[in-house]
Amino acid sequence: MLISKKMNSAINQQVGNEFGASLQYVAIAAHFANEGLTALAAHFYEQAEEERDHAMRFVRYLVDAGGRVEIPAIASPRATFKNAADAVRLALNHELTVTNQINQLVELAIKESDHITNNMLSWFVKEQLEEVSSMDNLLKVVQRAGESNLIHVEDYLTRLHAKTARMVAEAKDES
Ligand SMILES: [Fe+2]
Ligand SMILES: [Fe+2]
Repeated sequence: MLISKKMNSAINQQVGNEFGASLQYVAIAAHFANEGLTALAAHFYEQAEEERDHAMRFVRYLVDAGGRVEIPAIASPRATFKNAADAVRLALNHELTVTNQINQLVELAIKESDHITNNMLSWFVKEQLEEVSSMDNLLKVVQRAGESNLIHVEDYLTRLHAKTARMVAEAKDES
């Protein structure tokens, strides 16, 4: 086994944290879908998929490193929100918590001189910057629009996703 028992169980915890984030984003997406805010719903369903990918990235790493995968119990996500800003703020706080958890994993890797895990974690460190910054931005857009003008947020997200889809397609053409 390439990693310590302690690192193995810390990564198992993180698998739970990422699946937990995924469930929370499904709950937020469903809330927006109920409100008829389809772009916000689609955005959070997509975030939920990404969090599942994060969990799977850790699972695959544990297998590669010869560790044991033991997924912890996952708390049920919050299902009710006062308003859109409340739901997006919860998501932002979640991203900040996850950033903290990733930092703690990096600390442990450094303490154990575990360069292999530290190297794997650098992808997550970079990802968290992106996740926190985009969620922070979305919260600002939601707050600026206000609850009665969430249609502006829907337009914003529709344009953002169209742009991302175009960029992905262009990158594929080039490769
Ligand atoms: Fe994540
Ligand atoms: Fe995330």
